Amino acid sequence: MKKTILSALAGETLPVPPIWMMRQAGRYLPEYRATREKAGDFLTLCYTPELAAEVTLQPIRRYDFDAAILFADILLLPQALGADLWFVTGEGPRLSTLTTPEGLAALKPVESIHETLAPVYETVRILSRALPRETTLIGFAGAPWTVATYMIAGRGTPDQGPAHALKATDRATFQGLIDRLTEATIHYLSAQVEAGAEVVKLFDSWAGSLKGQDFDDFALAPAKRIIAGLKARHPGLPVIAFPREAGPRYVGFARATGADCVAIDNSVTAEWAAENVQRDGCVQGNLDPALLVTGGERLVAEARRIVRAFAGGPHIFNLGHGVTPDADPDNVSRMIEAVRG
Ligand code: CP3
Repeated sequence: MKKTILSALAGETLPVPPIWMMRQAGRYLPEYRATREKAGDFLTLCYTPELAAEVTLQPIRRYDFDAAILFADILLLPQALGADLWFVTGEGPRLSTLTTPEGLAALKPVESIHETLAPVYETVRILSRALPRETTLIGFAGAPWTVATYMIAGRGTPDQGPAHALKATDRATFQGLIDRLTEATIHYLSAQVEAGAEVVKLFDSWAGSLKGQDFDDFALAPAKRIIAGLKARHPGLPVIAFPREAGPRYVGFARATGADCVAIDNSVTAEWAAENVQRDGCVQGNLDPALLVTGGERLVAEARRIVRAFAGGPHIFNLGHGVTPDADPDNVSRMIEAVRG
């Protein structure tokens, strides 16, 4: 029997949607916090294959999700290209900033990323042996625009201001960075697939801040190149794209990029997405992660509403964004029960 996630990605409408959660391995789980403590810091956890595989498996053991997502981070790729990267506890990532032609020229060649990223591929190999037969293994990378926003600013920003500024003042350097990340992402995801990832997902968390032609040039075009590059090397590889907060630009995104599935955030309704996005194929989403903190009847009602809204076509149940550290693990069980029950 085909794995449920792969069936949905192939366009099948299933009686019960397969389910997994963005950031399903994370701080809301006591067992994650224990392994994270053992590793000492977040990056050591990412680069120690046995521990990264262990935290990937924790939510599968606890909840029996239909997919496991490789435990790593979108910012490992810039690090492999030569950026400095560190995480400040309670604040988030910090990187060396890239804002000049010299900075772009100093990046390492894309072929050399595998030196740094080899432990990530080893994590994938461990997982493809350890996962239950019915569980799909998802690899991932950040989309070029989102990764570039962190590389340019050196940190997360509320409005991606520094990246928009570089785009306006030094287009050549900005475009050069996007192109370099696009190439590197093909190499990175391709290596994950060779190690055993069955599906890959492209996270464009800040796609919503690209407007008009910028959305076409820096969200759509790089996704299209990455997907074409991957499918040329791995025919039939299913790809999920997540242009978060794309709003009306979710419409036609799959057709324009070649993605097999579009992940939808919770700023749009499931009913709207069913009518306007699911007509092109599989969609993933889109429960508000805040409901896993508050729980109660609304959690159950909203989960059921989303299942109903998408019941007429291929659907993978997920959140609209990552589960938060203050989520109640019991609410995750209630969500799964509402979807499967
Ligand atoms: O989904 C999963 O379980 C797989 C692992 C995964 C992580 N990050 C682990 C992580 C994935 C797919 C990501 C993607 C990621 N990382 C994105 C895109 C998706 C999104 O959420 O929008 C982005 C923008 C990042 C960059 C990043 N990593 C930030 C901004 C932060 C700090 C914010 C925070 O939650 O602390 C991280 C850290 C991070 N990545 C954690 C985890 C589990 C928390 C680190 C910890 O344990 O202290």
